[in-house]
Amino acid sequence: MFPCYTLATLPQAARLDPPAKLSVFGDPVAHSLSPQMHNPALAACGLDASYIRLAVKNPDFLPALRAIRDLGFIGTNVTIPHKFTALNAVDELDPAARRLGAVNTISFLPNGRSLGRNSDGPGFLRAILQEFGAEVRDLRLLILGAGGGAGAAVAVQSALEGCRHLTLANRTQAKADELAHSLRDLLPSQRCRTLPWNPQSLAAALPDIDLIVNATSLGMSPDDPPLLPDGLLTPAHLVYDMIYKPLTTPLVAAARAAGARAINGLPMLLWQGVQSFEWWFDRPAPVQVMRDGLAAALPSP
Ligand SMILES: NC(=O)c1ccc[n+]([C@@H]2O[C@H](COP(=O)([O-])OP(=O)(O)OC[C@H]3O[C@@H](n4cnc5c(N)ncnc54)[C@H](OP(=O)(O)O)[C@@H]3O)[C@@H](O)[C@H]2O)c1
Repeated sequence: MFPCYTLATLPQAARLDPPAKLSVFGDPVAHSLSPQMHNPALAACGLDASYIRLAVKNPDFLPALRAIRDLGFIGTNVTIPHKFTALNAVDELDPAARRLGAVNTISFLPNGRSLGRNSDGPGFLRAILQEFGAEVRDLRLLILGAGGGAGAAVAVQSALEGCRHLTLANRTQAKADELAHSLRDLLPSQRCRTLPWNPQSLAAALPDIDLIVNATSLGMSPDDPPLLPDGLLTPAHLVYDMIYKPLTTPLVAAARAAGARAINGLPMLLWQGVQSFEWWFDRPAPVQVMRDGLAAALPSP
């Protein structure tokens, strides 16, 4: 329903009705659910624009960015492997994106300059607020997989919010240590610590945690080992698994069985999309339309 374009076929996308004015750059990009979320939103708002997937190889990033600007695009999302390339490709950089070292949303400003921002952090905050009714600044967080791109984004945003306490755990602990060190100017050392990646450390930490975030890829495959030791989750925990395939991960299932509130990664995807839309159009996004678009694109649990 939403084909994938390349730099060579981009002129065809510009002749679509409505014309392509937004995109997601990636390699691979065919799996991206962004068109299913944004196209119904553009239609619902009566905007004369469509959103396309653009398969862009690394050497083509700058030519593709120039090509969409010359075609009058409003902006583009950027996904793997271009988030770091995008950082150096834009004319202006939002301070949070600079801090994260990655850009996933580009807007073309009226003066023709490009502005790079990152929706990972804002999308996370809005997901926690909307789905749990909680403010990250009030919470004690445990981030599992803090050394990866998504985990680091959530950690930086939580530190920028001044969260009550931040515990970082990563299989390769040196990455979590480095991240914790980089956050020292935002959170004092008594409010930010790292944990060894083992069941004993995780078990000891859990009673003092409000929100557990899984930012690892563990849980995507049925053969993956459990993330947390059995029997430690309680109804007081909030659990946020960033994975959305499968929709119900073993962590989400275990949390719900323990009486905890748990969500999968779809809300973050949704609220990142909402954030991008609002940056591009400077107006509230039709959230329910976007949520319905995402739900329709995924199999029922
Ligand atoms: N919902 C959303 O909108 C959204 C957005 C972005 C990402 N995500 C999800 O978040 C997850 C991470 O994505 P990413 O982009 O951050 O990937 P990434 O940069 O490749 O990081 C992967 C993380 O998973 C850890 N990990 C991988 N295999 C592991 C294992 N067997 N045991 C323990 N830890 C393991 C890695 O630890 P090491 O550092 O030790 O390798 C690293 O912390 C993925 O599941 C992705 O689908 C969701």
